[in-house]
Amino acid sequence: MHTETLATAQPTGDTFPINGTDYIEFWVGNAKQASHFYRAAMGFQLVGYRGPETGVRDRASYLLQQDKIRFVVTTPIRPDLSDEARAIADHIYRHGDGVRDLALWVDDARDAYAKAVERGAVSAQEPRVTRDDDGEIVTAAIRTYGDTIHTLVERRGYHGLFMPGFRPVRPHYQPGPVGLKYVDHCVGNVELGKMNVWVQFYADVMGFRNLLTFDDKDISTEYSSLMSKVMANGNDRIKFPINEPAAGKKKSQIDEYLEFYQGPGVQHMALATDDIIGTVTALRDRGVEFLSVPTSYYAELQRRVGTIDEPVDVLASLGILVDRDPDGYLLQIFTRPVEDRPTVFYEIIQRKGARSFGKGNFRALFEAIEREQAARGNL
Ligand code: FE2
Repeated sequence: MHTETLATAQPTGDTFPINGTDYIEFWVGNAKQASHFYRAAMGFQLVGYRGPETGVRDRASYLLQQDKIRFVVTTPIRPDLSDEARAIADHIYRHGDGVRDLALWVDDARDAYAKAVERGAVSAQEPRVTRDDDGEIVTAAIRTYGDTIHTLVERRGYHGLFMPGFRPVRPHYQPGPVGLKYVDHCVGNVELGKMNVWVQFYADVMGFRNLLTFDDKDISTEYSSLMSKVMANGNDRIKFPINEPAAGKKKSQIDEYLEFYQGPGVQHMALATDDIIGTVTALRDRGVEFLSVPTSYYAELQRRVGTIDEPVDVLASLGILVDRDPDGYLLQIFTRPVEDRPTVFYEIIQRKGARSFGKGNFRALFEAIEREQAARGNL
């Protein structure tokens, strides 16, 4: 068992108050089909739509929801009509389907934006007010790593579904949820030597603190390694680990991502559940593919993590990993990439007291990733 020290939340002086993740927007080649994947496979409900039928000529967006998690998938349908649609098309050409926006819910978007820019953030969108019959929303956006942005969303003056422009929908096909509750953390991959630049960015611009650091001694296998620092906001609702590759014998998983994403971007989003066995069973039945670990992992599990509530044979049959820290334990599992490029994937996580990120699983996990990298010819 490893030990690690977690920084405690700052008691006072949150210089950049954030209520939580507002939504995550993906720019994709075919939003209609992507929305179908998130409904059929991942248990999201399709609740809103914006596109030609609602007066937006150049793109289509689908709003998907599961408990507190909101995903928006957007595709350009007329990239010739606007700079915005052209930018989406260019993003897809370069990155494939990927995360464009990790949007943050704030009380005062104008104030948050002004502070961020004053502290060195690069603007992606000046504050903008949009209105409909349900009120008004204020948004502004700043750039982070790669082509990724953070939209700052102020919704205290809005009582509608999501945002002006989105129309509520109630489709006939609406498979049930799988128990995903909220976004636990979102991980970014950046280039060698850039991890500390982005760590400093989140510290300077948003007052985040470094919750945990993993170096290449923590995260290395025979072949590849990486370094990671976890940044967290004042109330711990936003956690952004930042990874960079470290020198190994062969190409690391981060290098593979950077090559296929053509630059830095969001690597994985961890979605929390209260019942990981039920959630993962449902996801598997619906066709979601997970990384698997050797059975030897479970032979050593009891010794490593002690007594846990869940039956080890059930965890083994599903491939769920377990790790313990001083506050408790956590259960986690990782999907394979959810597109053809080996880029974006998901983590499903259940926390039972633990506030860490599964350091004890890194070796087993990265060896599993490397087996898949080798199969792709990228190791
Ligand atoms: Fe994670």
